[in-house]
Amino acid sequence: MLRYLTAGESHGRALLAILEGMPAGLGVKVSRINQEMRRRQEGYGRGKRMQIEKDKVEILSGLKNNLTLGSPIGILIKNRDFSIERLPKVIRPRPGHADLAGLLKYGFCDIRPVLERASARETAARVAIGAICKIFLEGFRIRIASRVLAIGGSSNKVQIRKVIDQAREKKDTVGGIFQVRAKGVIPGLGSYVQPDRRLDSCFIQAIASIPGIKAVEVGLGFGYADKLGSQVHDAIYYSRSKGFYRKTNNAGGIEGGVSNGEDIVLSACMKPISTLLAPLDSVDIKTKKKARASIERSDICVVEAAGVIAEALVAIELARAFLDKFGSDALGDIKVSYGNYLKRLR
Ligand SMILES: Cc1cc2nc3c(=O)[nH]c(=O)nc-3n(C[C@H](O)[C@H](O)[C@H](O)COP(=O)(O)O)c2cc1C
Repeated sequence: MLRYLTAGESHGRALLAILEGMPAGLGVKVSRINQEMRRRQEGYGRGKRMQIEKDKVEILSGLKNNLTLGSPIGILIKNRDFSIERLPKVIRPRPGHADLAGLLKYGFCDIRPVLERASARETAARVAIGAICKIFLEGFRIRIASRVLAIGGSSNKVQIRKVIDQAREKKDTVGGIFQVRAKGVIPGLGSYVQPDRRLDSCFIQAIASIPGIKAVEVGLGFGYADKLGSQVHDAIYYSRSKGFYRKTNNAGGIEGGVSNGEDIVLSACMKPISTLLAPLDSVDIKTKKKARASIERSDICVVEAAGVIAEALVAIELARAFLDKFGSDALGDIKVSYGNYLKRLR
């Protein structure tokens, strides 16, 4: 079973990740992981923190001579800014962030510990894990990409930059929609036999776990709501060269919680960043008097980066479903099992 844990505070010494369940014998280049780390830091609208951090991974365990050993892969990402011990207390919770809910839950009298872990800095660890899963999937010709569909209601690239610039000028923030697509996914990943094995529910859960994501759609998603069945279901065809195929893909490549051989298509909505340079009303947690919410160094718009993070999470979920189907110890055994399955499909 592929599983992982992450640890680390936003301004702590480092982020940590442990990935367990990657089979032995997979070639992993650290430079390939770092390429994904870089992509997560990019995008128009990022704040100053991303200019400070230059995320690079160190693999602490589970690899020898660039080959996986089948043992847990330990990953370290050092923070350049690890000022956590010196940072001031935060006492005015930001609406939209984890500040107040986390404070009440854990009984702190300072919001700092909440925001340090609730911060999306944690997603750097998951992008590293996802990069290893991408490398694994690429060996079976599965590729995952993302793109921004809209920001602040606009889908035009030039206009999007303007929308972000205007938000910055107004000391505001902006959200949007991105899409993730996985190509080359064979039919038969995931299952309808138990709810937690349904591939669509795994993707939805994974993408919704990205801080700030408030809705996830599979294929046509909300677009199904005002259509008739005859207008939306993807009719089935067969040819000797292609096998079973569809002319449309409203299902987003999943039926009954199982991949059907078409591209996996998922889209998600990211809300505007919560930290505002012109802060909203809040309450001082000590005096209980009205106050403006606190301000932290912050991004203006991160929809593009959220897409990159979602790619990583989709890779993790796909790799898990793939390993569930074809075995998970040795890459050679998995290739044999995969080859036999393809023969049966033909
Ligand atoms: C890549 C990325 C960067 C983010 N950067 C910030 C930020 O700089 N400031 C901020 O207030 N929120 C930022 N967020 C969003 C918050 O982490 C998120 O809104 C917060 O943890 C509360 O979680 P929720 O929005 O899911 O309720 C970022 C999210 C992502 C995915």
